[in-house]
Amino acid sequence: IFEQVLAGKRITITAGPTREEIDPVRYLSNHSSGKMGYALAIAAQELGATVTLISGPVNLLPPAKIKTISVSSAQQMHDAVMQTTHDCDIFIGCAAVADYRVQQKTNQKIKKSDSELTLTFIKNPDILSDVAHLANAPFTLGFAAETQNLREYALGKLQRKKLNMIAANDVSDSTIGFNSEQNALSVFWSKGEKKLDVADKQLLARQLMRLVAQRYTEDTND
Ligand code: C5P
Repeated sequence: IFEQVLAGKRITITAGPTREEIDPVRYLSNHSSGKMGYALAIAAQELGATVTLISGPVNLLPPAKIKTISVSSAQQMHDAVMQTTHDCDIFIGCAAVADYRVQQKTNQKIKKSDSELTLTFIKNPDILSDVAHLANAPFTLGFAAETQNLREYALGKLQRKKLNMIAANDVSDSTIGFNSEQNALSVFWSKGEKKLDVADKQLLARQLMRLVAQRYTEDTND
């Protein structure tokens, strides 16, 4: 019965890493492949949702018939999200957004000189939290990549960011998660939790979208 819940719903998904430029030739980024976010976009589309995928730089083809917006920096992702989420029903923050950007990007390449180089970083906006705190916030699902205290940290983020659900994965295990074909997730919401065992990311995405459909129905009928 949860299969029909997402038909016609508008779902925005962020995916991949962000790239924070340091100078015209260098940037700071992370190992996110974007596979989980892209798999979620496909799974949501299979359930009849109208999906907008907002993606950082990845080596994946844009999924067929899914509106895909390519961005590079966290700030650009934030802007793209804010422009598209005012009328979405569900927001899924799957991107590995850089927490910080360099305070002052130089227009010229930084030259080697001293034995030390100091860069000052400032905090990026938290896209997911900003969406979840909107007056007319959509149903929100966030991710938490952790190397320890998975449950405690995930529940902290669920509360602090004001999310409906959070899916946590253990990134200390290199056989799953970042840059791998497989993943395993522990999903938490205010009144419950569910473990999704290690599986191919596309299969896991389908299981997670069904869980989203279920929670979305129950939360919107509360
Ligand atoms: O706090 P932390 O970065 O671990 O939270 C991870 C979750 O928050 C992910 O869902 C990620 O997409 C989202 N996030 C975001 N904007 C940021 C940082 C994280 O949307 N600047």
